[in-house]
Parts: sequence; structure tokens; C-alpha cells
Amino acid sequence: MNLQEEILRRRTFAIISHPDAGKTTLTEKLLLYGGAIHVAGAVKNNKIRKTATSDWMEIEKQRGISVATSVMGFEYTPTSVASSPTYHINILDTPGHQDFAEDTFRTLTAVDSVIIVVDAAKGVETQTRRLMEVCRMRKTPIMIFVNKMDRDGKEPFDLLDELEKELQIAVRPLSWPINMGQNFKGVYNIFQSTLNLYSPNKTQVTESIHFDDPHAPEIQQLIGEKDAQQLYNDLEMIDGVYNPFDKAEYLKGDLAPIFFGSALNTFGVKELLECFVQIAPSPRAVEAVERVVEPMEEAFTGFCFKIHANMDPNHRSCIAFFKICSGKFVRNEYYKLVRDNKQMRFSAPTCFMAQKKETVDEAFAGDIVGLPDTGNFKIGDTLTAGEELHFKGLPSFSPEMFKYIENADPIKQKQLDKGVKQLMDEGVAQLFVNQNNGRKIIGTVGQLQFEVIQYRLEHEYQAKCRWENLNMYKACWIESDDPQELDLFKKRKAQYMAFDKEGRDVFMADSAYVLQMAQNDYKHIQFHFTSEF
Ligand code: G4P
Repeated sequence: MNLQEEILRRRTFAIISHPDAGKTTLTEKLLLYGGAIHVAGAVKNNKIRKTATSDWMEIEKQRGISVATSVMGFEYTPTSVASSPTYHINILDTPGHQDFAEDTFRTLTAVDSVIIVVDAAKGVETQTRRLMEVCRMRKTPIMIFVNKMDRDGKEPFDLLDELEKELQIAVRPLSWPINMGQNFKGVYNIFQSTLNLYSPNKTQVTESIHFDDPHAPEIQQLIGEKDAQQLYNDLEMIDGVYNPFDKAEYLKGDLAPIFFGSALNTFGVKELLECFVQIAPSPRAVEAVERVVEPMEEAFTGFCFKIHANMDPNHRSCIAFFKICSGKFVRNEYYKLVRDNKQMRFSAPTCFMAQKKETVDEAFAGDIVGLPDTGNFKIGDTLTAGEELHFKGLPSFSPEMFKYIENADPIKQKQLDKGVKQLMDEGVAQLFVNQNNGRKIIGTVGQLQFEVIQYRLEHEYQAKCRWENLNMYKACWIESDDPQELDLFKKRKAQYMAFDKEGRDVFMADSAYVLQMAQNDYKHIQFHFTSEF
């Protein structure tokens, strides 16, 4: 296979959802279809259940598992298309725990598309909404899987309205449920004109029956007259209300195809997968500061979106995860770490096939390679075959919680500084330095991250820290085309101004009211909640 064919057959995506909607179950079932695993229950996920005590050791143990499941690769040949190519699928796992949402945001920068799982009874939940904002910013194509149809949930049409409104995206059902809960009979696959009858089965794959016409009398026989009538009405309504599926709109991130099913019962998953490999984008062009990089370019380029620290504190080794943006990555070849202008080569790059971590000799645009590292890499780093190129920084989002970090062991100041710097490079949390008094502020998405930092500082860097509470509402990156007003603002708000780790100006608003007032008073200043604007 040549470079182009290898790249075109790649599908790199993430499954995202609010905790408990069924992300892990769906991932597992996709692997089951791909033949990557043979029994359900084989995937141990990195789902971190919040224990009453937030036991960090327990979390660490669970996190260990997540190295193996960070990327899951498998090959899949659709059965519904004659002489279809075999696709190479990379699923990127995202931490379920919302305190690690930042990790998920970064993972989203490395995918070419996303599948969102929604619980049919709960509809759109907070975490889904936030993740969707990131997808929208990046125009990531999304598909939606409405899960748990074996339980009573919201009426499908109401749910579609909710998805459209809450996620601010046009939707188009490509499969349609026949009842739900106890009366759930199956789904009609609009994309392929097949009927798939439901039989609760947690491990096996059910077959579907093809019909050229949804009005075929056999359908009535199979699901009964009443349900068949309802199905005709629903399909008619769908055609009346929603535009026909337009792949171009989907690829632009403007239209989300919807599938219904029950991941737990391995139902509706195949429809999703078969459609996914056919319509989801192969690796997309990636913007660098200097130019747009096309995946088919011969020369290798890639960026680091995740660093996973090793559990063994005696060997501070990590795995840096790189998304390959163009060309082919080859083992033992020299590449340039652009930030340091340093030539590096890697003798043991890993890729992840199913649950196995394997050393690979080559990997292609779209793939994720894990590079063993001893502290060379930072999140956002660019690696190239020689070109001076900087992939655009990964966005930072305003943290939700802020604390001053203080040294609790005066003779270990150096260790503390080093530890904080490295953990921030690894993307564990965000560091802000107050411009007025130089105090360091750590911003996180949740309480758990403070515990992670404290634990790791102590065990990996022999440094002790103390937290001092800080009442803060949001960190806002500010910009203005009126330098005078910006100057005036920075002077007046000096005690609330901080630098982020790139030295950008950040206004630390201590309440929604203060932020609102600032927005009213300084009309020429834009206040952003992410660092990418
Ligand atoms: P997450 O990764 O999005 O957090 O969700 P996960 O897959 O772990 O699923 C959350 C719960 O929902 C699990 O139950 C899972 O078995 C259940 N579930 C997933 N898909 C379906 C479905 O189609 N129908 C029904 N009825 N339930 C589904 P749990 O009791 O929390 O976990 P477990 O003890 O089964 O592992």
C-alpha cells in the first residue's frame, strides 16, 4: 500500500460523553466488532469513579490502566459494502472523570472526528455541552449515538430537538428506533435501508435484514401492524422535517447524523460503525503557524497532545503521545524537536493495536505514536523531519478552581519549582503568575487535580506544597486593538493581572459581577475564556 492509501484508510476519533452515558460500553462493542477483542468485558477502562475519599492511590492505579487504553487501534472491513477497503481505526480514549476534562479537551485536538454518546433518558448533559463547545471551535465532524434504547427514555423527536438546540448543530437521523424500553423492537437503518430486530444480547452480534422499501409487507410481519404504521409515519416525518443527509455538511461540522441503539446489548452499534467508516474523514489538514500541513505530504510532522507520566517514581519516564499530521514516521530516523532545535530519534516508538502496546517500525498520518521520554517533551511540541514548523498551540480553557501554591519545605524550593514546571508542561493543570506580587496560582478543572499535584510533587520531586484558597471566578485572556485602553485596564487592575505560562496577559476575575463590570467599562477589550481565539 502506498502512503496515500495508508492515510486515506485511517479514521482517528474519540468517543465522548457525560459520565455514565455509555462511552466505555460503546468503545468495547466497537472493538468487539473490529475483532480486536473477543469477549465483552475485556476492556478495562480508565474510568475513575469518584470515591468518597478521593483516594489518590486508587486513582493512580486506575490511571495506570489508562496507558494501555489511551489509543485503541483496530482494522475493520465493512460487510455492507462490496469490495470495501479495510479501514484502520484509532479510537482515542478520554478520561471519564470530569476533573480531568482538560485532558479530554486536548485529546480532541488530535482527532479527526468525534462520536458523542447521549443517554436516551437524560438527553444532553453538562459535560456533553462543554465538550461540544470544543468540537464546534475546531469544526470537528460529529456523529451522535443515542444509547440505552432498551430503557424508557425521551421521545425520539423531542430528543432530536433537544440535541439540535443544546448542541447548536443541525441533526439528521440515519437510524430510527421502533419503540423503546420494554417494547423496544429494533432500529430501522435509514442509511442502508435495513431493519435490525432487537434481541437483548450482551456479547453477540445480530444480523440485519435488507429492505429496498421500508413499506415492504415483511416489515409488518416482523414488527406488527401498529409499529410498522408508526415507523412509516416517523420516516415520513423525518423526510419532511430534516434535509437529506449531506456528507459535506457533516464534514464541515455543521450536521450531526444520529444513530439509536443500546451499546450494552450490542445493538445499533454495527450500523453506527459501518456508516462511520464510510463517511468519517480520513486525517485532515492541520494548521501550523507557518502554513497548513496536508496529511499526504511526504515529510513527517506531528505534535504532542498528551504526556503520560510513568507510575514508577524512581524512573521519571513518561510516554509522550504524538499525533502524526503528515507523512510517515519511521523508527530510528532522526526528527527535529522544533522548540529546542534538537535532533532526536526513537528506538522504541509504540502504537496501540487493540489492547497491546507494540513497538512499531512505521506509522502514518492520522496515527498516534507513543514516544518514551525522560522530560524532553512539552504538550504542544512539534516534531518534524527538519522543517521549522509550529503547530498551533493547544487551547487552554479557563480553569474552574484556583489556589495559591506555597512551598511547605523551605529547603526544597528548587525541587518544588522544577516539579511545578514539569507538571505544568505535562498539562496536569495551569499555572498563572500574579503580575503584581509574583505569587503562583494553580488553576484546575476539579479538586482532584490539586491532590494529584500535591501527591506527585511529594513522590516524584521530594517537594512539599501547601494550598491557599483563592476565590476566583474565571481567568480571561484579554486582547484589544486599542493599546491605550488595554494599558489603562492593566494599570487599574494590576493586582488582578497575571501571566499564563506563555507570558500572555490574563485577567483574573474574582466574580461574575466584576467581569461583567469590566466588560461594560472597557468596550474595546475582548475577554476570552480560552487561550485560542
Ligand atoms: P461511561 O463510560 O460513559 O461513563 O459509561 P459506561 O459505558 O461505563 O456505562 C455506564 C452504565 O450504563 C453502566 O452501568 C453500563 O452497563 C450502562 N449501560 C451502557 N449502555 C447501556 C445500554 O445500552 N442500556 C442500558 N440499560 N445500560 C447501559 P453500571 O451499572 O454503571 O456499570 P457496570 O457495573 O455495568 O459496569
